[in-house]
Amino acid sequence: MASSLTPEQALAQARTQVALATGRPGGLCVLTGAGMSAESGIPTFRDALNGAPTAPAAPVPQEERAGLGRPGAQPGYWSQFDPADLASEDGFRAHPQRVWDWYEERRHGVRKAEPNAGHHALADFERRHPGVLVLVSQNVDDLHQRAGNTGTIRLHGDIMESRWLDTCSRHAKGGNVCDPDWAESGRPPGCADCGNLLRPGVVWFGESLPLGAINAAERAAQSCDVLLAVGTSGAVWPAAGLASRARRHGGTVIILNPSASEIDTQAHLLLRSTAAQLLPGLLAG
Ligand code: OAD
Repeated sequence: MASSLTPEQALAQARTQVALATGRPGGLCVLTGAGMSAESGIPTFRDALNGAPTAPAAPVPQEERAGLGRPGAQPGYWSQFDPADLASEDGFRAHPQRVWDWYEERRHGVRKAEPNAGHHALADFERRHPGVLVLVSQNVDDLHQRAGNTGTIRLHGDIMESRWLDTCSRHAKGGNVCDPDWAESGRPPGCADCGNLLRPGVVWFGESLPLGAINAAERAAQSCDVLLAVGTSGAVWPAAGLASRARRHGGTVIILNPSASEIDTQAHLLLRSTAAQLLPGLLAG
């Protein structure tokens, strides 16, 4: 079905399916990945490593780079490292300053970014059709929240948050747990008492997703009429399994991505476009 349609036919059918899904609570489940924020200038995971901002990103001005005082501000710097070393607990323990600096640079990019037309289309849809949309995101940025979506299921955490790397040693002794807000500034900040370090509040490779979040996402996928996957490579599990779960339970799977993804085989409808270009029209009804 997905391959035999012209782009116009696929879009028309997708619009019809989305309109049908607005008929009941939870009818539309949208899964977003890094491509959702690409047109806000936040590089996808791979692009962040390669130091290649995605259009129309405003490049970090040279003086700001200098102000950050980090070698990582130079484009391409991070590509010399294995992603698993920059996004894993082992990598952080081995090189805490390097990993902290990488996240600080990405946080800087998120702060400067604004929600794009795709984020706004999702937020508008939620306002116009209360209860219909369940939004599940792999993104650690806060652009869905800033656009106005509420209750987004965040599978991979929040890059703007930090938490202790280790369980506070006072906890074992029955004392008051150190507050992360007490951390002394540093790269990374740490506890002056016990030396515990702050780490980014994201899910790293090898870590489990928050159980409540993945359970809620799986329930949403298997009970929706339409699962729309936007800007995800479908390479990271268990998020990648949501499309096949929806399909197995009778949902229509629509994939919006300018390039091929690993979950294209699950799609009833493939939309080869970008989030900001296509979502406003797709969700206008
Ligand atoms: P990826 O970076 O793996 O893939 C981004 C996808 O977005 C690609 O399939 C692109 O073709 C597509 N894309 C690029 N620009 C787009 C646009 N303007 N509109 C729509 N799509 C576009 O991102 P994810 O699949 O989200 O996980 O996987 C990212 C996860 O991988 C992160 O959450 C991270 C990493 O491992 C963890 O840290 C656990």
